[in-house]
Amino acid sequence: MSALHPLTLEVNGRRQDLRLDSRTTLLDALREHAFLPGTKKGCDQGQCGACTVHVDGERVLSCLTLAAQAEGRQITTIEGLQNSDGLMHVVQAAFIEHDAFQCGYCTPGQIMSAIACIREGHANSKDEIREYMSGNICRCGAYSNIVVAVHDAADRVKKGATL
Ligand code: FES
Ligand code: FES
Repeated sequence: MSALHPLTLEVNGRRQDLRLDSRTTLLDALREHAFLPGTKKGCDQGQCGACTVHVDGERVLSCLTLAAQAEGRQITTIEGLQNSDGLMHVVQAAFIEHDAFQCGYCTPGQIMSAIACIREGHANSKDEIREYMSGNICRCGAYSNIVVAVHDAADRVKKGATL
């Protein structure tokens, strides 16, 4: 058993003081130590995208990020998306309206990735969305509805919705 080290993470605007093995991934730190299980583990090898979170506003695979690498940076998970009134984020609302999920296991990663995809300016057409969302696998085959949801959310953002 290796030594535990103190580590402070800033998750969804809240400080989390943790004690972790230095090998702990950000994904495991979030799920098992910060008790935020919304971020999912589908492969733990960077191949499925279920673990996608934002670090300083950019999408990253938390299974390939050490918790220690995220210290001092702003981490956002699916649990941190609703606004202070508890209203859903525009991308969450679009996923529900367009039935963009079935089992829901890939969904947190899809949504975090979709927000970044729009922010990056890669949601201008359905083909572009397909390409830039291809790092997120969905075994339920919800892809066509995911593309419609992301396209619609991007449109609402263009019209002034908060991203
Ligand atoms: S769990 Fe991270 S990419 Fe699959
Ligand atoms: S909704 Fe089930 S894997 Fe995507």
